[in-house]
Amino acid sequence: MFNNRLCTRRQAIRLGVTAVSGLGLAIGAKKIYSRQEIQSSDYQQKRTAQDFAVDSQTPLKIRAASKGLIYGAAGNYPALSSDANFKSRFVQECGILVPENELKWYALRPTESSFDFSKGDWLAKFARDNGMLFRGHNLVWNQFMPEWFWKTVNKQNAEKYLTEHITTVAKHYAGQVHSWDVVNEVIDPKHGKPYGLANSPWLDFLGPEYIELAFRATAESDPNALLVFNEAGLKYDTSEHEARRTSVLKLLEHLKSKGTPIHAFGTESHILAHETPFNAKKLRTFLSDLASLGLKILITELDVIDQKLPADIKVRDIAVASHYHDYLSVVLEEKAVMAVLTWGLSDRYTWISQFSPRSDEAPVRPLPFDSDLQPKLAWNALAKAFDNAPKR
Ligand code: XIL
Repeated sequence: MFNNRLCTRRQAIRLGVTAVSGLGLAIGAKKIYSRQEIQSSDYQQKRTAQDFAVDSQTPLKIRAASKGLIYGAAGNYPALSSDANFKSRFVQECGILVPENELKWYALRPTESSFDFSKGDWLAKFARDNGMLFRGHNLVWNQFMPEWFWKTVNKQNAEKYLTEHITTVAKHYAGQVHSWDVVNEVIDPKHGKPYGLANSPWLDFLGPEYIELAFRATAESDPNALLVFNEAGLKYDTSEHEARRTSVLKLLEHLKSKGTPIHAFGTESHILAHETPFNAKKLRTFLSDLASLGLKILITELDVIDQKLPADIKVRDIAVASHYHDYLSVVLEEKAVMAVLTWGLSDRYTWISQFSPRSDEAPVRPLPFDSDLQPKLAWNALAKAFDNAPKR
């Protein structure tokens, strides 16, 4: 899906990241935006900056931890290894680090017979040295595979490659990983495959059993990691997302009934700021259905895409903060939710600049901190949602 510079509209819709739209306000700020400005926002529920006021600058990781939650973000090697100010913000706010790209096949497997753990190891050490947990993302996906994969892997050898990859990588990081995204974005009922599985070389070569194989191989290689099924496109009240939710639940029920070691579900949360907000009741029901299967839940890859919001930064920031707040307020009601992970921390480094840029070419503002590393209303929204979340 991401082999091209920009994802296509259809791909982005599936992800939940299509069509959309800092000024670090401010802790306990006075009202600084007029009603009129706010009403020009597309976001239906009109808010003011003051609606996001919180009483202190206590970092997100601490606010989350006081409710039994983990807060963290995706970070990448180029940013964290070279930008000291970003690095200190990251350490200050995050209780867990997710390598944005460094553990994907294309990054770890320069050739068919070699593994390059250098950047992943740097990130794992960075997390450890700074008291952060470390997440594995990801072991099985059909995107961001190295070139050699497509030429080399076939029906005859696929099981060997899959098992060897998982065993080598999961053993290498065993004891250092809080949770592994074992499979990533494997559902797409539109493809008409069993269990609503998406087209993938793994499905072609190994059949639906590749999922179970992957979880079992990971469990054997790192018995202490929490094993996560990470999936996109589940939050909206559309027939497409509804079909995806149904497929996910059926597949998980099937896998659990076979004793597959799946411990948690990651629900990707790339929110489109210009979209109609989700249906809270349906989202809550989906999460409680997951919890009923005995699964923990992680809110993964959270960001709010401001691609299609008006240019006015104040309007944009209020809309983005509103989405963060409203989404989190609903999902955090579910006590099985154990972690919230934003896909990046600061607008200085976000995949949205490349994958969902604005047509007016204005810099995008999807994350809690602006590009000067100052907290935005989005930060306040997260802080507030954690403060109001029930304890777990
Ligand atoms: C994205 C990264 O953020 C980009 O830097 C990279 O170029 C493409 O991948 N779903 C996922 C993540 O599971 O791995 C993707 O990350 C975003 C969508």
